Amino acid sequence: ALTFLIMAGGSGERFWPLSTREKPKQLLKIFSDKSLIRLAYERIFPLVPKENIFIATNSIQVPALKEDLAELKDENIIIEPMFKDTAAAIAYGSTIISKYFDNPTIVVLASDHLIQDEEEFRKVIKLAEEDASKGNIVTLGMKPTYPETGYGYIECRNPKLNVPTKSLGFREKPKYEIAKEYFESGNYLWNSGMFIFRYDVIMEALKKYKVGHFNTINKITKIINKNEGEKTAEAVKPYFEEFERISIDFAVMEHADNINVIPASFGWNDVGGFLAFSELFDSDKDNNVIRNIKCISVDSNNNIIVSNDNVQRVSLLGVSNMIIAVTKDDILVCAKEKNQEIKKILKLI
Ligand code: GDD
Ligand code: MG
Repeated sequence: ALTFLIMAGGSGERFWPLSTREKPKQLLKIFSDKSLIRLAYERIFPLVPKENIFIATNSIQVPALKEDLAELKDENIIIEPMFKDTAAAIAYGSTIISKYFDNPTIVVLASDHLIQDEEEFRKVIKLAEEDASKGNIVTLGMKPTYPETGYGYIECRNPKLNVPTKSLGFREKPKYEIAKEYFESGNYLWNSGMFIFRYDVIMEALKKYKVGHFNTINKITKIINKNEGEKTAEAVKPYFEEFERISIDFAVMEHADNINVIPASFGWNDVGGFLAFSELFDSDKDNNVIRNIKCISVDSNNNIIVSNDNVQRVSLLGVSNMIIAVTKDDILVCAKEKNQEIKKILKLI
């Protein structure tokens, strides 16, 4: 069976104060009138019955998630007892799915991306399903447009749109000089963070490349078969502690030799920080992007002004290149070039 695992465990730091631990980026309705996770859910809805769609998250986010996706059944919400990053989350989530489906094909998706051409996206997922059925770990690759250091890179020769191609190497988040080399060579694609594999294939890969995870999962499997929902999270907690904190990219993707990449083009945006507002929305004549808030501006340009409740009014006079984010409790005023350093503030709160 074709199943989906939507990963929703991010901590929501880069959009603070709009995003919080209880309500990270994927649950905000600031990019569209629906939340990113709702968009992710509806995007795959035409492909499978809703019983085949699972969301992996942590208990702190469950209330807001249930409110947003009220039609989800409890058994389709997978609660991780603690944050152990995506290798553990994928191993655990996949194992829970395999309780309901016999050796399922699992499509791992991020909960916090935007995709323009949904029809095309679904077409590529079907291609990936077919390729994964042959025992490959399949990723979807995007043509890089600049040397981003926050993405993984997949090497492949002569990538052709929508044709599965063998990955010649996977490099997670390279340093800038290396990212630049990759970008200029034309032989690399960005990893979009979507993975498609059969359950037995990912377990085999963990056994080979992260045996600690594999052993822990074997212990957890016995517990899963005896418990449901919130009770499972409680019961697996002592075993979950054992997981090394590592992402799937470092744990498996950098080592596996059965990775195929499908070069895809469906208008993908990873919405990685406030600057995404400038890519996604039109600006006024002074190049200010104003979203969900009233704003008066005089002699001010290149700013991003955004709120989640559309209540206050912001007035700007002679300021440029700022990010101003407003909630009822907090106001962030941040120089655009510091947009990736917002966690420095969170450390002080
Ligand atoms: N359930 C769960 N548990 N979800 C998690 C966890 C966890 O412990 N950690 C992260 N996630 C979710 C995030 O909410 C997000 O939807 C997805 O998994 C990816 O995690 P990120 O933390 O956003 O990863 P990244 O952006 O740094 O890097 C990944 O995505 C890039 C593309 O956006 C990598 O796969 C890169 O190689 C890739 O280029
Ligand atoms: Mg991300």
